[in-house]
Amino acid sequence: MADGHNDSRGDARQSFYARQQLIDSARSAFQLLSAVMKNAALYPEAHPFLLTSADKFRGKVEQLLASRKEVAFYLVGGELFFETFSIPIDQGLSLLMEQFSSRDIGGLAFKPGLTSPELIRLAALMNKEPEVLSGQGDSNDVIAKQGITHIELHRVLLVDKDAGNAIKEGKKKASEMYKEAMDAVKEMVQAVQQEKVSSLRKMNTMVQSMVDYVLDNRDALMGLSCIKMYDEYTFVHSVNTSILAVSLGSFLSFEKQQIAALGIAALMHDIGKVDIPHEIINKPGKLTFEEWEQVKRHPVEGALLLADVPGVSKLAMVAAFEHHQHGAQGYPRVEGDYQRHPFSQIVSLADAYEALTAARVYYSAQMPADQAIRILLAKRGTVFNPILVKAFVNMTGLFPIGTILKLDTGEFGLVQHQTRDLMRPRVLLLTKFDGSEKETGTETSLLETAGGKYKRSIVGTINPHAMKINLKKYLG
Ligand SMILES: [Fe+2]
Ligand SMILES: [Fe+2]
Repeated sequence: MADGHNDSRGDARQSFYARQQLIDSARSAFQLLSAVMKNAALYPEAHPFLLTSADKFRGKVEQLLASRKEVAFYLVGGELFFETFSIPIDQGLSLLMEQFSSRDIGGLAFKPGLTSPELIRLAALMNKEPEVLSGQGDSNDVIAKQGITHIELHRVLLVDKDAGNAIKEGKKKASEMYKEAMDAVKEMVQAVQQEKVSSLRKMNTMVQSMVDYVLDNRDALMGLSCIKMYDEYTFVHSVNTSILAVSLGSFLSFEKQQIAALGIAALMHDIGKVDIPHEIINKPGKLTFEEWEQVKRHPVEGALLLADVPGVSKLAMVAAFEHHQHGAQGYPRVEGDYQRHPFSQIVSLADAYEALTAARVYYSAQMPADQAIRILLAKRGTVFNPILVKAFVNMTGLFPIGTILKLDTGEFGLVQHQTRDLMRPRVLLLTKFDGSEKETGTETSLLETAGGKYKRSIVGTINPHAMKINLKKYLG
């Protein structure tokens, strides 16, 4: 249901403006509803202020009903949804949200035929003590007895629990997906090393299912991509870069075929490294001049290798050739005013982010994701296309999945999903983080409020590497 990250296909279909308009209408409807609730607490039932506010809300509902059977709002984890759209609300509306949640109301739907007196009666019930509506019985019976028949209340659904299971199942498949991708890259690299002609058919099928997967549940694969493995660095790096590039392609509402081509290009971007010895790739210290010259040849080698692979799209060659061509430090050097292909720019951004957050055998420090995001932001407009950086950050949030947050309550939170607010993701609460951390099992959104104030806020992040935290336990 109302899981904000899951509507990318819907987004593509809806035109941007129509969607924006709908979100605005839904938000103003909710604001008008809040006004009715407030007025009902201040004025007697027949007071013109109250009546006028009820009429206004009804008018807005009727407008929305012109193209739908009911106007339904859902409240999930401190967020407000209208249908599948997350509705940005300010803290002024959070009190109303709390009024609902303290009565176990997880959603409400307004049906055609709604009258202002019904609305005012509901407001009056809402202003009584919470037990009136949250008691044992069906709250819809309670309101029906008051003659309210065009409003339906939904309990806080056990959706959260079900969604949790769905996510876990999704993750299981995600890990299979990840393994398949690793195998496909390995096979390809071996074929290239043994100078066998390999076809991209298998890889194409794998990438297709990766794209389907990302379109359905982007977070599950992105979660896996932040688990860092020390061995098989190049394979892991290629798969993670591909997951990030595919996710960004889907976030930008590219056509499915384009996203798949992007996925292949990202998987293959470093194939030119096959002949570089491991000692150089994993060298802890500075490379010698000769070693560096050798490394710098990998974009050209990659493009040449891909030229020989049957069925490989030209885009993969182009991306391999161009993925390090950023700014004055980029390589290989190209004369004149050179514009990189947008796919190369995406691969290059995904590549850089992955490399920044990667775990390597000889490096003790693995950079936390939020720091890597800040580096990308700092390099927008110089090294990276600013529009792509913006989209990337909107996708990952400022605290990407897998980031461990220190909260102002003394708790720790492991980022699980983004919400509409880049500063307030959804987290899994953990009691402590010293290797014996306990999962409280509680998932919560940092958007949740109490008394009109946020319940929890971020005070800092924690480096998972330094703390020896096994992210796999939580995301794998
Ligand atoms: Fe590279
Ligand atoms: Fe790379």
